[in-house]
Amino acid sequence: MSALLQHPAPHLRPMHEEDVPGVMVVELLNYPYPWTEGIMRDCLRARYSCWVYEAGDRVIGYGILSAGAGEAHVLNISVHPDYQGRGLGRELMVHLLDRAREYGADTVFLEVRPSNRAAVHLYESIGFNQAGLRRDYYPAARGREDALIMALAL
Ligand SMILES: CC(C)(COP(=O)(O)OP(=O)(O)OC[C@H]1O[C@@H](n2cnc3c(N)ncnc32)[C@H](O)[C@@H]1OP(=O)(O)O)[C@@H](O)C(=O)NCCC(=O)NCCS
Repeated sequence: MSALLQHPAPHLRPMHEEDVPGVMVVELLNYPYPWTEGIMRDCLRARYSCWVYEAGDRVIGYGILSAGAGEAHVLNISVHPDYQGRGLGRELMVHLLDRAREYGADTVFLEVRPSNRAAVHLYESIGFNQAGLRRDYYPAARGREDALIMALAL
């Protein structure tokens, strides 16, 4: 069997309840302070715009966007470490921005750790700018870490 057939191209589709265990595998790999399964399920219940990247029958990434009152918030964007650096994160963000436009948002916000160079680079390259700073927002190995608030006008 060709390598391509063994590793089908990842594709984006809406997240369902039954995806949550697969989503949590990636969440736990990617974040030292991960969301809980309950938070993921709450996002689905709240009807946020929740998407997964699927490769074969495996979840290899996901993105979650909330939208309302002319604003959208990227709440989570995450690609399995084995699949990072191949353009999937960028494609996922572009997809979420398209969804934000559909919801009528004119600004998209997100929060990121300043130490997360890959994510900050990705967001800046898409056009996000720093809109603020939340001091001591995230738990960290030593104390707390600030959150950069980034914004993009659509
Ligand atoms: C942030 C994340 C979603 C990016 O996904 P990805 O699929 O690796 O990103 P892409 O391959 O689309 O690359 C997007 C840009 O990020 C940059 N990038 C990716 N990995 C990088 C790294 N290790 N160091 C620096 N920049 C990096 C690349 O420069 C790329 O820009 P380019 O297209 O100009 O080369 C992914 O790294 C991830 O899941 N990280 C863990 C979870 C996380 O931190 N999420 C964000 C929370 S705010």
